[in-house]
Amino acid sequence: MEKEITTRSPEETEQVAAELAAALRGGAVIALYGDLGAGKTCFIRGLARGLGVTRIVHSPTFTLINEYAGRLTLFHMDLYRIRDADEALDFGLDDYIFGDGLCAIEWAEKVETLLPPHTIRVTLKMFGDENTRQVEIADSGFSP
Ligand SMILES: Nc1ncnc2c1ncn2[C@@H]1O[C@H](COP(=O)(O)OP(=O)(O)O)[C@@H](O)[C@H]1O
Ligand SMILES: [Mg+2]
Repeated sequence: MEKEITTRSPEETEQVAAELAAALRGGAVIALYGDLGAGKTCFIRGLARGLGVTRIVHSPTFTLINEYAGRLTLFHMDLYRIRDADEALDFGLDDYIFGDGLCAIEWAEKVETLLPPHTIRVTLKMFGDENTRQVEIADSGFSP
């Protein structure tokens, strides 16, 4: 299933993500694609809200991974600084993606070969004015 939504503010992008999160089960993996500033972290903020996470979500650019307690445990990864899938395996990425939380991965293209069949792919694109984004959600049809 593939969905395309246009959002006109960060709040709208968060809302789309929060609604998606509410429907997810443990073991879900969300791979995020899009340029710097496209809204990947913003989308993950919405996922957190949808899971009832109360802490503020910051990008884990230096730590690689942040963990948040919610209806499902949210693992927020930002792989901008890693080189390839081998480096991701070194820090145990597979333990997280085959765990029973919700994994949300920024710069997921770096670990494409490690992503399970039930991965939900979210692509964010800037277009039009500075507050407009196209959010494309591709659901594999598999479940975790
Ligand atoms: N419709 C929108 N959806 C998401 N972010 C938006 C939107 N419009 C403007 N923005 C802004 O774009 C930036 C997105 O940043 P961020 O989520 O950190 O991007 P990324 O993680 O992809 O680098 C934020 O400053 C946010 O306020
Ligand atoms: Mg980010």
